[in-house]
Amino acid sequence: MSLKLTTVISDLSIMIHQTQVGIIGAGPAGLTLALMLQRQGIDCIILENRSRNYVESRVRAGLLEQNTVDLWRELGVSERMDKEGLEHHGVYLSFNGVRKRVAFKELTGGRCITIYGQQEAVKDLIQANLERHIPILFEAEATHLAGLETETPTIFFKQNGEEHRIDCAFVAACDGYHGIGRKHLPKDSYQEFRIEYPFSWLGILANVAPSSDELIYAYHERGFALHSLRSETVSRLYIQVDNEDKVENWTDEQIWDELAIRLGTEGWTLNRGPIFEKSITPMRSFMIDNMQHGRLFLAGDAAHIVPPTGGKGLNLAVADVRFLATALIQWFEKQEDILLESYSQDCLRRIWRAQDFSNFMTYLFHKQAAHGSFENLLQKSKFDYIGLSKAQETTIAENYVGLKTI
Ligand code: APR
Ligand code: PHB
Repeated sequence: MSLKLTTVISDLSIMIHQTQVGIIGAGPAGLTLALMLQRQGIDCIILENRSRNYVESRVRAGLLEQNTVDLWRELGVSERMDKEGLEHHGVYLSFNGVRKRVAFKELTGGRCITIYGQQEAVKDLIQANLERHIPILFEAEATHLAGLETETPTIFFKQNGEEHRIDCAFVAACDGYHGIGRKHLPKDSYQEFRIEYPFSWLGILANVAPSSDELIYAYHERGFALHSLRSETVSRLYIQVDNEDKVENWTDEQIWDELAIRLGTEGWTLNRGPIFEKSITPMRSFMIDNMQHGRLFLAGDAAHIVPPTGGKGLNLAVADVRFLATALIQWFEKQEDILLESYSQDCLRRIWRAQDFSNFMTYLFHKQAAHGSFENLLQKSKFDYIGLSKAQETTIAENYVGLKTI
């Protein structure tokens, strides 16, 4: 199989493109995969059904694990992240006003996290892909896949009302939770796991200096709150709300008041400023336990969603494509499929770990049971244990910064 050149052949009714790896989705997964493959001389085409402006301005989380930062540095796409990203060496955890710091450096042998908005990372990745002549077709929607059990699978897509087809050797579905990739796995090839949480996050971005040098995750009897940031002048904050709640139900003042109560501790004040973005995100844990079928491989949100409480979503997506790129490179360079065969199993170890940690953090910090109930007192006991046990503190620190290998 020597599909190499990205060519376009026109048939009267359909445009035919050829490449080695057809990638669906220009999120962190698809964009990082393309850069890893291109570095080894493997051609790909990225299809993205949204516009460039849309994907570059989509507001999402902004917590990068050390492994993610290391990979982007290795790929030569870290110039702006290294300048503008903020390294954090600890995190504050708070329970009804009692605040405790977990120090990463001491507990994880020097590892840390970097705060850098996902949309900034996506801008950098898109720019690097285009500079390296990797085609990204925006507003191009993959509609269906064919021949996945053959050596020449096909992606059908639509762009500007025209029908297109990509003939390739492999399809990488990096197309997020709502993508088409997962729908092409045989139904009996995987188990699905899902938790829908009975609460959501109302997130804001505000033009105001952060009120804390490090993130604060807070349980409060009125509900969870998180203090994060984007820069020295932009704060990112969240509060737990009901699933039925609407952004319109909250004035800016009410949001700030609620944040001040939930995050509050003695001697600390919350800086307030103009809010320029507000949105509500539901919380779910979701995954399937098989991420491949024939020549189709899934990566990132296409295969798993974690609640944002551990900041793992983006990092898991990048960890998947590291495995996928390595496996595809082994196939193209040596015609060996050992790593392709073990792809799902290799990814799943880290996915399960991240699912567990994200679920743990979610239950620890959200209000689910009445104040003073058995469940609530267990929550409090778990929080107190962080202060009592170095082992528990280390468990949180090493999962939060992300295990180096797993
Ligand atoms: N055709 C083309 N593109 C598609 C299609 C399709 N049929 N379906 C989805 N897409 C695109 C989406 O528009 C989106 O830009 O796939 C992209 C998937 O990107 P992400 O949702 O960012 O997923 P991923 O790259 O796995 O990154 C995971 O993103 O969802 C966040 O917070 C999550 O941080 C995590 C990270
Ligand atoms: C964010 O900065 O948006 C953020 C940080 C940590 C999280 C979730 C979101 O756990």
